[in-house]
Amino acid sequence: MASYAKGLEGVVAAHTSMSFIDGEKGILEYVGIPIGELASNSSFEETVFLLWNGRLPKHGELDEFSHKIRSRYAMSPALEARLMALPKKAEPMHVMRTLVSSLGLDDARPDVTDVPEVREKALTVLSLVPTILAGFHRYRQGKPLIKPDSNLPLAENFLYMLNGQRPTPTMAKAMDVCLILHADHGLNNSTFSARVVVSTMSDVYSALTAAIGSLRGPLHGGANEGVMVMLNAIPSVADVEKFIQAKLEHKDKIMGFGHRVYRAYDPRASHLKVLAKQLAHDTGNSALYEKSAKIEEIMLREKAAKGIYPNVDFYSATTYHCIGLPLDLFTPCFVLSRVGGWSGHILEQLSDNRLFRPSADYTGPHDVRYTPMNKR
Ligand code: SDX
Repeated sequence: MASYAKGLEGVVAAHTSMSFIDGEKGILEYVGIPIGELASNSSFEETVFLLWNGRLPKHGELDEFSHKIRSRYAMSPALEARLMALPKKAEPMHVMRTLVSSLGLDDARPDVTDVPEVREKALTVLSLVPTILAGFHRYRQGKPLIKPDSNLPLAENFLYMLNGQRPTPTMAKAMDVCLILHADHGLNNSTFSARVVVSTMSDVYSALTAAIGSLRGPLHGGANEGVMVMLNAIPSVADVEKFIQAKLEHKDKIMGFGHRVYRAYDPRASHLKVLAKQLAHDTGNSALYEKSAKIEEIMLREKAAKGIYPNVDFYSATTYHCIGLPLDLFTPCFVLSRVGGWSGHILEQLSDNRLFRPSADYTGPHDVRYTPMNKR
């Protein structure tokens, strides 16, 4: 009988050639390239090409890939009608899960699972999710939807459709870096969810919908919103120590800290910390950044010895806030990026599939007789 690993901790359940994580050293590489180099030099579109093709694109290839993405930004009238029929008070992550699932209704061959066709379907979803998210945000405010601009890169176009005006180059770059940093991360819960679903040869829309459902959990992608709620609940830097100590004494998890794999500083958090500090300074949010830095100082003092460090969600909260994103769009922005990684894993699973079917160790009784109702 195989040994029981609660939460599959430490179990290798797949092979991947996309992201490599060394949790002890705090290393993350996409196809061997350190995440910091990609954040500094690449773009989200180029990063998705890298993840899906196992190499960086040549010049013409990137132009062609970018053109394919940008030509698919627009929602169909049917999709736009579905969006406009949703309750304005719907939670954005429920909207993402619902509308991504509905994309299968617009696909004449939704159940096809051969890799080239699934790649095309995934590219369409990747191109559409920013339009869906920005469109819902405009709709719930009672504002007209902004048509996508297919001349703009994905990150910049998202902010344009969200706010109705072109973002500054600094904000466009910051959004693009966030998308690069969140794109893929080994067999995290939402990625595993996508692989489990597609391993039954189910369709790509079901797999991505399952992944979105997983990501919204506060122990996973939902943590970035939890970080912002925590920051908003602390009046000033002077109140941080008391606030954090009270939570730790209550055995509460501090959102944005700890990780199943990292026992060192999450390299994505290192990059986001620098970005958050710069954006906070530029946008008059230094007090927010100072609170974050103070929380980190306390958590390193109290918990680093147990391998608990900031993770990707801790400084992404301040970064997203300074970019001007409303709090309940933080986790949906994680979706915009991770559709890239999820899709890459779906393609990997389909290329070398084996149905996921682990065992459960039965702990119930045996040899029990059926008791008729009048004898119970
Ligand atoms: C993401 O897997 C991925 O790659 C995910 C991700 C990705 O890119 O896809 O990196 C994105 O999901 C990042 C994680 C976001 N979640 C949070 O920030 C929520 C807060 N973090 C914790 O819930 C926790 O750290 C987890 C869920 C992230 C990891 O939990 P584990 O591996 O199951 O660890 P655990 O809960 O068993 O904790 C071990 C110990 C416990 O103390 P003891 O009971 O042993 O005394 O560490 C403590 C925990 O109480 N601990 C924390 C803590 N995280 C762990 N204590 C305070 N605050 C925390 N955040």
